[in-house]
Parts: sequence; structure tokens; C-alpha cells
Amino acid sequence: MGVELGKVHVETFPDGEIGVRVLESVRGRDVFVIQSVARRPNFYLMELLILVDAFLRASARSVTAVIPYYGYARQDKRGKEREPITAKLVADLLQTAGVSRILTMDLHAEQIQGFFLIPVDNLYGRPAIVRALEKVGLSRPTVVAPDLGSIKMARAYAEILKGDLAIIDKRRVNGEKVESGALIGDVKGRNALIVDDVISTGNTMQTAARVCRHHGAKQIVGGVTHGLFAQGALERMGDLEKILVTDTIVAEGTLDKLEIVSVAPIFSQAIASIQGAKSMASLQ
Ligand code: R5P
Repeated sequence: MGVELGKVHVETFPDGEIGVRVLESVRGRDVFVIQSVARRPNFYLMELLILVDAFLRASARSVTAVIPYYGYARQDKRGKEREPITAKLVADLLQTAGVSRILTMDLHAEQIQGFFLIPVDNLYGRPAIVRALEKVGLSRPTVVAPDLGSIKMARAYAEILKGDLAIIDKRRVNGEKVESGALIGDVKGRNALIVDDVISTGNTMQTAARVCRHHGAKQIVGGVTHGLFAQGALERMGDLEKILVTDTIVAEGTLDKLEIVSVAPIFSQAIASIQGAKSMASLQ
């Protein structure tokens, strides 16, 4: 955006608490605080809440929480008895801290917007991934949804790329294990682009790639917005030729076939649109 980062001092006290001080006046200003809630989600969420409190007590006019990766988004409903809805709890915490608006990307479930009474702008990583894909030269791929939850995303990719759609019937056994069953659609003799919102353990991507390979796909490429890459995930990418992942989460670890795609231009345009009260429709 051509603006300098604001100055804040953030430290962790010896007892583990987070200390924050804003080092410049924000009185009457619109503040955009950028923080992904990933890797150490509890720490970064708390750090974000404390920063918001500091800005508001320093008389900022508004505080927009720019959360490229909204942690806990996958806990968006009660799947089994006695489970929490942590994505709603995070929304409550942000609103209680006084956030005026949320700017995020590829929310795991778009309905999370409804957990807030303030505006939530959900951007898409798709334009950045599609641009990067042009350089890979994957001609007319069949876009593969690795599970039922990814169908909407896969369909949007397929429309842009003018490709066909295929769907894998995935069953999650637990947080670390998934099983894949039938493939609905056809990848035989075609290039496959497997798209997902998140890679965490990498099991979903690995099993989807294996299913595509088993059904005769040629080149297999992954396109994912949020690269959590929990321990061991990178090693599970062996069946793919390439993986394109955006930088909503800072990459830890590297792999030749991993390409990080910046979504900074999308966020900067969105921030400019918010400030200029302009439509964000062109960012879809
Ligand atoms: C699930 O619904 C998500 O869209 C991702 O498919 C999932 O979170 C990926 O997790 P993992 O890499 O651990 O299989």
C-alpha cells in the first residue's frame, strides 16, 4: 500500500503474559492490525486481543482485525455431543475486545461471518493461486475437491479454469487420520488440480493425490490457501508434482515442489477499498 508499518512494542513477560505498548499516536486513526491465528493459535489470538485493547484505549477511531487465517474456524459446529463451537467463541472474544470489522480469507465455513454482529469481509486466495498456476502450465485440469466441504471452492476454480469437476468422498477418522472412498467424476489421462482451504497434517491432500493417481491422473498439483503444515505434512506431499500455497501463514520448512504465492496485493486492495468505501466485488 506504500504505507509504513505502525510501531508497537510486544514482549513476553517472564511469567508468560504478553505485554504491549503502542509507540505512536493512533488517536482518531483507523487501525488495521494484521495477525494470523496459526501455529501457536492461543498465543497469537491473545496477542491480537491485547493489541486491539491497546489501540482502543489509545483512542483509535476504528480497529479492523485483518486475520488472513482465522484459527479455530474448523470448529464451527457441534459435530458430536459435548463439543464446543470455538469459532463462535473466537468471534465473541474479538467483538468483546472492540474490533470494528474483520478482514479475512477463505474462512473454512462462510457461515462464520454470521457469528459476528460487525462486518466481516471474506476474501479469496483463488485469484493468486490461479495466476501462479498459469506459470505451471497445467492445461485444462480437472479440479478435484478432496472432500465434500471443498466442493464450492473446487467449482469456483473449475469455472475460472474452464475445467471439469471431480469429488472425493473423504471420511475423517480423527484429527490425524482420514480415509478416502469413491471418486465422483473422471481424472483418467487428465491433469488434476486438488484444491482445499487448509493443509494441516497433509493427510487429506495425500489421500486425494493417491486416489487421483489410482484413477489414472497425469500431473497432480495442489492449490491451497492456508498452509498450516503440521509436523510431517511436507513429507506427505510425495504424490504431487507441485503445491501452490498462499502466504496467509508464514511458511516453516521448505520443499522444492512447494511454491508460496503472495496474497498481500489482495489484502492491500481490500484495505484500500475499506478506507475508500469502495466495492470489493472485483476481488472475488
Ligand atoms: C477439512 O474440512 C479441511 O477443508 C481440510 O481438508 C482439512 O482441514 C485438511 O486437514 P489435514 O491436512 O490435516 O488432512
